[in-house]
Amino acid sequence: MFGSPAIHEQDAEAVAAVVRSGWLGTGPFVSQFEKDFCQYKEGWGFPVAVNSCTAALHLSMASTGLEPGSEVITTAMTFCATVNSIIHAGLTPVLADVDPVTMTIDPADIERKITPRTRAILPVHFAGRCCPMDAIGAIAREHNLRIIEDCAHAIETTVHGKPACTFGDFGCFSFYVTKNIITGEGGMILARDEELAARCKVLALHGMSKDAWKRFGDSGYKHYQVVSSGFKYNMMDVQAALGIQQLRRIEDYWQRRKAIWDRYMQALADLPLGLPAAPEPNTRHALHLFSVLIDEKTCGITRDAFLDAMTEQKIGVGVHYLSIPEHPFYQQTFGWRPEQYPHAQRIGRTTVSLPISAKLSDDDVSDVIAAVRTIIGSKKVER
Ligand SMILES: Cc1ncc(COP(=O)(O)O)c(C=O)c1O
Repeated sequence: MFGSPAIHEQDAEAVAAVVRSGWLGTGPFVSQFEKDFCQYKEGWGFPVAVNSCTAALHLSMASTGLEPGSEVITTAMTFCATVNSIIHAGLTPVLADVDPVTMTIDPADIERKITPRTRAILPVHFAGRCCPMDAIGAIAREHNLRIIEDCAHAIETTVHGKPACTFGDFGCFSFYVTKNIITGEGGMILARDEELAARCKVLALHGMSKDAWKRFGDSGYKHYQVVSSGFKYNMMDVQAALGIQQLRRIEDYWQRRKAIWDRYMQALADLPLGLPAAPEPNTRHALHLFSVLIDEKTCGITRDAFLDAMTEQKIGVGVHYLSIPEHPFYQQTFGWRPEQYPHAQRIGRTTVSLPISAKLSDDDVSDVIAAVRTIIGSKKVER
């Protein structure tokens, strides 16, 4: 199965202990996970644990009180949740194309897309590679724009030792089952501003005043006040218990993925498929996705036929992603067409993600390599 997570016995025990305690909702484990995560990010920002990265992105934008219809520039190469969260916040998504090599949002195209209504930039640290945050930060300063970093792929990402999420106003993380560490469903906001973090917390629990988070404690009944029409986005202790355990192993998992990544790079180097670009100097790539590009002209097989052939060989593969304008909803709502974002279009039509979970054994990795070599080797077009 693609993206099957590494789960240890301690994880199961920690979850069982919470279940046995009878306190399943938001409580001490969530607070602990927030503290631990913040500490992992060198104490930067104010954490708000939520039940998905989609919720984290939505709340980040909802908390800032941008006027409805304000434009938010994001990338054409991302998961639909990035774009949907902008729409949920009552804002208007505007797409920029990506760099053809790094696959992250192209600052030059961001500049081209700025209008008098632009209020924010939402870069996605794609596959675990940090976006060019110096350039994006400069654009944001010049035009007085907020930055919301989609760090769903980028828990371990750093640039010159500075963690991804510390460049903007908000960093939004995912602990979904395929991510680098998991809580089942789950997400986290790290906000630069304490007041905005507090607002996110209120919005995450029905818009009930801050103390509502503690209202089920032992210190007597507390009345809550609804101060906003909020959402139901709070994380549960069951999820946080898993997250606390997983976070302790984050470096081991990264090292394991690095070993798998290096094996793929070496073993597939002579094939005519596109391999991931090397990480930029002085950066740490979170190695979340290992994607190859299958161009029919050089590989002798279409991307979709390659996907089928891998599945036939019982190798789980993924597509991250078809570019956003390929989807009918966005075409109909915003009039976007894939060819307006040619790099994202090409990547989206040729990309295939190979398994890179820390759970994979050396034999599993050998099986993946053998399957790719068999399929491409037999179809290879001589150049
Ligand atoms: C780039 C990106 N942003 C946002 C999300 C949404 O994360 P979640 O599933 O935790 O809501 C994902 C999830 O896969 C993602 O890949």
